[in-house]
Amino acid sequence: MQRRDVMKGMGVAAAVAASGSAGQAAAAARRKRYVAVGVGSRNRMYQEALWGPHKEHGELVAVCDVNPGRMALVGKRALEAKAAAPKPWLAADFDTMLAEHKPDAVIVTPPDGFHHDYIIRALDAGIDVITEKPMTNTAPKAQAILDAVKRSGRHIRVTFNYRYSPFRSQVKDLLMSGEIGDILSVDFHWLLNTVHGADYFRRWHSHKAISGGLMVHKATHHFDLVNWWLSDMPVAVSAVGKREFYTPEMAKRFGLSGAHERCLTCPEKAKCSFYFDLAADPGLKALYLDNEKYDGYHRDQCVWRREIDIEDTMNVIARYAGGTTLSYSLNAFNAWEGYTVAFNGTKGRLEHRVVEQAMVAGASKQTGDDAITTRIIPMRGQPRDIEPWTGAGGHGGGDAVMLADIFDPNAPADPLKRAADERGGAASCLIGIAADKCFETGLPVKIADLVTGLNSPDWPKMPNHIDPVPMPARTDQV
Ligand SMILES: NC(=O)c1ccc[n+]([C@@H]2O[C@H](COP(=O)([O-])OP(=O)(O)OC[C@H]3O[C@@H](n4cnc5c(N)ncnc54)[C@H](O)[C@@H]3O)[C@@H](O)[C@H]2O)c1
Repeated sequence: MQRRDVMKGMGVAAAVAASGSAGQAAAAARRKRYVAVGVGSRNRMYQEALWGPHKEHGELVAVCDVNPGRMALVGKRALEAKAAAPKPWLAADFDTMLAEHKPDAVIVTPPDGFHHDYIIRALDAGIDVITEKPMTNTAPKAQAILDAVKRSGRHIRVTFNYRYSPFRSQVKDLLMSGEIGDILSVDFHWLLNTVHGADYFRRWHSHKAISGGLMVHKATHHFDLVNWWLSDMPVAVSAVGKREFYTPEMAKRFGLSGAHERCLTCPEKAKCSFYFDLAADPGLKALYLDNEKYDGYHRDQCVWRREIDIEDTMNVIARYAGGTTLSYSLNAFNAWEGYTVAFNGTKGRLEHRVVEQAMVAGASKQTGDDAITTRIIPMRGQPRDIEPWTGAGGHGGGDAVMLADIFDPNAPADPLKRAADERGGAASCLIGIAADKCFETGLPVKIADLVTGLNSPDWPKMPNHIDPVPMPARTDQV
């Protein structure tokens, strides 16, 4: 009897089990091979996915970083997870690493300003890319990435995990349903508190050349959400921004003598409630403090430093190709953390509000439950509170859903089209880049003046701005 016939008679599951080591070898052969560059806090999510729920789907074969200490930590964590330790490569040997390991994809997670370099080198080596947000932090770098995709024919996946948070996916689903009609304007306000918000001013994020400032580093999440929620492309941006809280002057107003270098050595640590103890958290200590000797990077720099060149207070107005207008703000010193967003449609308004548990990136303990409210208010009629979709894990449950969408070859087709490529990556970071330009010049910026050849992604279909809309009920009848 032929082997194929045996398999047919036994049923697929039993046949796979019976095929023993041959089946395991075939499964191993199907596992994709990944390498990662920039193995700090965020990369741990990908490591844990490939050592845990997705170990059948892929393998992390090598890592690359400027800091050998952090790469050694990955090796240690791999062994703890009972996985093979990925081979470490210094950043200068990135191309050799690609040539030696011939991975299926490169996972790009160094600081934002370095993404483009690794993305372009991987694409030009014929390798696909999975990159963290923001895709990049300047317009010339965005142009170079768009050009490299066209030149190489390879693919980029930009991991916009916020799209995958169940309650934000639900907002997209509600908007697509047409219940509030087509959307004429959006009011979106994001608040960072003085735990999470202050943390940006301690790290590499406080240098615009590396992060693009919070308009790029942080707001790329938010602008991407709006682009995807609307299924539309931004065309023009106006913005104002300033730094007025995390300043030496504010330190003095709080009764300190001024800014210092870092918390670890601060002479006024007892007086400063923004003091951050890097040694107190085992995760932060292992990742950063213990590895300072290799690169001199201090993760606890003083939040009041004069040389910080990012804003803490930002307001943006944007216009979309379909006509929708966006009013957005981001403040980094607020009393609570989270956001409110409202969509003003031709049939009503959708209001969505999330109060987040603030966290410190890289810390051992994270999360808590977010308080989520979503409400639809018809133009004339009674509001309807919506039970939020929920999930477990990082970023409101979004990380796990996204990782399955990235790594699991059997992930179901996604009607919300949450997977983003370089077009979505560019559309989002370019709003922030345009806003940064407005901060400098005071003038509006057109997206088309920043890059050429940026096409619209294949967005989910939304209610259009042309079809008839039912006349709302008379006010004396509701
Ligand atoms: N999607 C999200 O919610 C989310 C959350 C956190 C961070 N991120 C993104 O992940 C990326 C990394 O952020 P992080 O918080 O892990 O930062 P991090 O500082 O913890 O880690 C960065 C790592 O990159 C390494 N590195 C620095 N310069 C390098 C270079 N030139 N070449 C190679 N490696 C270099 C550092 O040594 C470090 O190991 C950023 O792009 C950030 O925006 C995304």
